[in-house]
Amino acid sequence: MLQGKNIVLGVSGGIAVYKVVELLRLLTKAGADVHIIMSKNACEFVTPLTFQTLSGHPVHTDLFSLSQEQEIDHISLADRADLFILAPATANLVGKISQGLADDLLTTSVMATKAPVLIVPAMNSNMYENPIYQRNQNDLAGLGYHILEPVNGALACGWDGQGKLPDPTVIFGAVESVLTAKDMLGCHVLITAGPTREEIDPVRYISNYSSGKMGFAIATAAQQRGAQVILVSGPTNLTVPTGVRCIPVISADEMYSVVFDHLENIDVVIKAAAVADYRPVDRSVQKMKKTADELTLDLEKNPDILTELGQQKEDRVLVGFAAETERLLVHAAEKLQKKNLDLIVANDITQDGAGFDVDTNIVRLLHADGRVEELEKMSKSQVAQRLLDRVMVLWKAK
Ligand code: PMT
Repeated sequence: MLQGKNIVLGVSGGIAVYKVVELLRLLTKAGADVHIIMSKNACEFVTPLTFQTLSGHPVHTDLFSLSQEQEIDHISLADRADLFILAPATANLVGKISQGLADDLLTTSVMATKAPVLIVPAMNSNMYENPIYQRNQNDLAGLGYHILEPVNGALACGWDGQGKLPDPTVIFGAVESVLTAKDMLGCHVLITAGPTREEIDPVRYISNYSSGKMGFAIATAAQQRGAQVILVSGPTNLTVPTGVRCIPVISADEMYSVVFDHLENIDVVIKAAAVADYRPVDRSVQKMKKTADELTLDLEKNPDILTELGQQKEDRVLVGFAAETERLLVHAAEKLQKKNLDLIVANDITQDGAGFDVDTNIVRLLHADGRVEELEKMSKSQVAQRLLDRVMVLWKAK
């Protein structure tokens, strides 16, 4: 999505500048052409050479540097941008922009751009809470500037509170979000992700290798496209995508309750979770002791959430997943039909780069009308985008 995009990254002075180096790396890795403008104070924290090396372009630091003005004037920098990012944005920078002040290269360029501007503030928590600062930030938000709020945590000044620059991957997600067309506005999507755990005793459980990556990628993409997203997730190590409401669950039973409790107004359900089919009949309250040479666990069937969703489908779009080790199309087609789905995403998990706990997937999309689409190996984010393209066609046809 960022391939070939022209991004201006404005860096103002704050200890969080070092994190922006990583953001620059993520942006260039995704194919963006990034031009950097640093305020004078930013140069005190990280040298322009670091940003120059990673961006492959000279860093712009001073409006009145004649040599820099000859190479590229600030107006054209602002003019060519698809997106302007300000990170970290200090209280001073936000204050100046909100007042229309343009007294250095950074503020002048922001003033001159017609591109969307993403502001990522970072500062002392008292400064952040200051009503004057908040008024400035709200004024900018009201004018259409995008704000990614700072997170809570230990701050460099010794305080603990809201003021930390979000993780570079979170800023990267916000960048993608700002640049994504909002074709899913008004669509309410419920996505399940990750494994479920079925407890045997307080220290053991039955589960599977699902990492949650596939479901989280779909949630991220849907949110970026403007959908309202509820993500019901089994245990994972993943960060909840910004703007997504995540409800964590452990067992299949819990997932069942949460899904059916949140179905009202849902237009699309996508079940990427790997739900355990069986659970122990009895859960031992105490840790089970190693006594007998052999141990037999009695298992009983979990509720099949997707089958029940198919029985109460109404006018929702229903998408399932099938992870198979053999006869991929046969098994997936059976599930599509039996569970009354509009679409099933079939992954042959014996293939390298497909299925559980990898960043890519190789899938076939089986439609209820019998069409089968074969997608090449691609990132789970790309699979998510392709899947949502199909979902939007189905949703609009309802
Ligand atoms: O999480 P990752 O590491 O990124 O891996 C992604 C994935 C491989 C887990 C995912 O792409 C995937 O294929 N998920 C479905 C796994 C599976 O094998 O499901 P199933 O064949 O057991 O079930 C078919 C469908 O019914 C699934 O949509 C499942 O969510 C649903 N189901 C299954 C059992 C059950 N009790 N309730 C359900 O709702």
